Amino acid sequence: MRNDWSDLPDVARAAIEEHTGPIRRVEPASTGNHADIACTVDAADGRLFIKAARKSSPEQDGPEVRSLRWEAAINPHVIEYAPRLHWTVEAVGWLVLGFDHVQARHADFTPGSPDLAVLAKVIDAFQNMTAPDVLAGKRIERRWDAMAEDVTPLAGATLLHADLNPANLLISETGRVHVVDWAFVARGAPFIELALLVPWLLKAGHDPAGAEHWVARFPSWTATGPAAIDLFCRVFADKWAINLRGNRAAWAVEHAAAARRWADHRLG
Ligand SMILES: Nc1ncnc2c1ncn2[C@@H]1O[C@H](COP(=O)(O)OP(=O)(O)OP(=O)(O)O)[C@@H](O)[C@H]1O
Ligand SMILES: [Mg+2]
Repeated sequence: MRNDWSDLPDVARAAIEEHTGPIRRVEPASTGNHADIACTVDAADGRLFIKAARKSSPEQDGPEVRSLRWEAAINPHVIEYAPRLHWTVEAVGWLVLGFDHVQARHADFTPGSPDLAVLAKVIDAFQNMTAPDVLAGKRIERRWDAMAEDVTPLAGATLLHADLNPANLLISETGRVHVVDWAFVARGAPFIELALLVPWLLKAGHDPAGAEHWVARFPSWTATGPAAIDLFCRVFADKWAINLRGNRAAWAVEHAAAARRWADHRLG
């Protein structure tokens, strides 16, 4: 649930303005729901995109703050794609990140969209990136540890953004692409980046066979044994079904349904 800029304690706002100069205008981001605050701010020194989250308690980060710490940790390694992180403020139980603001629109993943070629280029680049040491302990397969006896077929050393949804791929008027929202970054088998994309392709109007055809353009997909993809497809749909017990938000219901639709198609 998003909070308002005015929910930030004065002390935190003062610490931010030490970096930015006086803030004149704040515009909340229209999409996204993880960080407590995500907004564009106009300050004396220019325009920035600010994400902030409140700790669960003085001793405990909580999930939103942990996500922001990962965004901060990975930023210098992916600066070719991610808006640059300029500063971090930690004050009175809040963590605040100040990024470059990019003027760009969300990507369109519908069948036939030219943005799919942009997405493919980004994925090709990521598939060739080895996860930096900061991700040594952030192994993607652990998310599904409880769902199967052996999740090692999902493990690997590739850098995974792991949340390439259309609102996280920003395309500027000149065609420059920016990838935001690195909260779920991890290391794992390269095909997982593609597998995580399949539900987003379904939600954008592809059918399961079409979505699988699209991801099959990447060498990591065709080089992966079908059993490993089957395993992912099953544990992913099963985990989402379990998630729904605690989260009935419309987006979660929709994502779980897409995961199940893919599993029904693939596993019969
Ligand atoms: N640096 C940026 N410059 C301009 N707009 C941005 C920037 N970063 C993010 N946005 C916009 O704000 C939206 C939300 O940002 P982001 O996805 O990082 O937040 P989030 O809280 O992690 O959301 P989510 O629910 O997707 O996890 C993005 O979809 C994009 O439209
Ligand atoms: Mg996002």
